[in-house]
Amino acid sequence: MLGNFSYSNPTKLYFGENSLDNLNAELQKYGKNVLLVYGGGSVRRNGIYDKVVAILNECGKNIIEDGSVMPNPTVEKLYDGCKKARDGKVDFILAVGGGSVCDYAKAVSISVYCKDDPWDKYYLKFEDVDNEIVPIGCVLTMVGTGSEMNGGAVITNHQQKLKIGHVFGENIFPKFAILNPIYTYTLPKYQMISGIYDIFNHICEQYFSGNDDNTSDYIMEGLMRSVIHSSRIAVKNPTDYEARSNIMWTATWALNTLVSCGKTTDWMVHMLGQAVGAYTDATHGMTLSAVSLPYYRFIMPYGLQKFKRFAVNVWNISADGKTDKETALEGLAAMENWMNELGLVMNTKELGVSEDMLDGITDATFIMDGGYKVLNKDEVREILKESMGQ
Ligand code: NZQ
Ligand code: ZN
Repeated sequence: MLGNFSYSNPTKLYFGENSLDNLNAELQKYGKNVLLVYGGGSVRRNGIYDKVVAILNECGKNIIEDGSVMPNPTVEKLYDGCKKARDGKVDFILAVGGGSVCDYAKAVSISVYCKDDPWDKYYLKFEDVDNEIVPIGCVLTMVGTGSEMNGGAVITNHQQKLKIGHVFGENIFPKFAILNPIYTYTLPKYQMISGIYDIFNHICEQYFSGNDDNTSDYIMEGLMRSVIHSSRIAVKNPTDYEARSNIMWTATWALNTLVSCGKTTDWMVHMLGQAVGAYTDATHGMTLSAVSLPYYRFIMPYGLQKFKRFAVNVWNISADGKTDKETALEGLAAMENWMNELGLVMNTKELGVSEDMLDGITDATFIMDGGYKVLNKDEVREILKESMGQ
């Protein structure tokens, strides 16, 4: 049964090859001073920066530059960005990049006028925003996080060895998001597959919880099938527009709050992955791929019926003449084959995790209670140990 819920998503989405044509009209709605946020330089190399700046100039905006947002944006960068935004009296923040750029822009948007330390208020105490928010918009260049149409903003504090995501309310969502699949063609393969696994895992996190008969689970099975199919094409031919556009669209739906409607969710793989990320600064999707199978094999007996359904409905495994456990395990084996086929990182050692970090990573792992088994710290450590591989 579907639980009670309310649903709305305020982000206006423009999708397709000509989607940037809508930027001018969107920018007209906001004031003159625009904080232009981007990453380490990919947008300068592939020409997207020049296109965006030309439109900002056409609109007569004052551009306040805020580049060099790093993957897994840090709290120090957030403080810097707030100062820039305050000094420049920005009316609007335009994020041009991937999840890191988009998350960072959201974090700045709520922190510019925050009287307290934003790390402490939003990330350690999980408090709501009670100050003025600078609106943001996004031109997406990397696919995976869903940040273009949600309220998530993940920030890393290296000193405290913590990577924390706060999912904020609708007032923080981007006002608009521009999605042109062609912009993703220049992504290195490592980032493309990492994003693909991030999408897949966002769906798993919301799927592997509860056993009710609800539409949300059927939607997720469709999204998973689509991402598996398109990823196989995109890995062989990165400029296949159909595959890249399907991947981009699936990423948005995987985490724009729709598929969790009326159901419980897990999110333990993300908690493990974020703790690994806090210690290694590794690429987000790879932290997830490295911990996923040890985690899913561990919880499978507690959610056997759903893992069986996953095997049959997502991986086309026949259940005939097999025990539920055999079918479920075949599903996870099919998933493992697909992950290897893409070339994902399958153990945390490769990401820089060493034995002496295990206690710290265990401590940094938040324990969620929506999955099939609420882990204790010993079990978290066991899964992390298993994730190191041989
Ligand atoms: O920095 P530049 O030079 O732009 O290079 C980036 C970066 O190195 C590169 N890139 C992006 N677009 C490109 C490109 N390279 C060539 N061509 C392009 N078109 O890709 C690298 C990774 O970018 P990043 O933005 O870090 O990747 P992603 O989109 O995976 O974002 C990761 C961050 O999002 C958080 C993660 O924890 C991590 O901090 N997440 C945010 C979520 C949310 N808001 O809901 C949920 C996710 O689970 C996730 O936690
Ligand atoms: Zn993710």
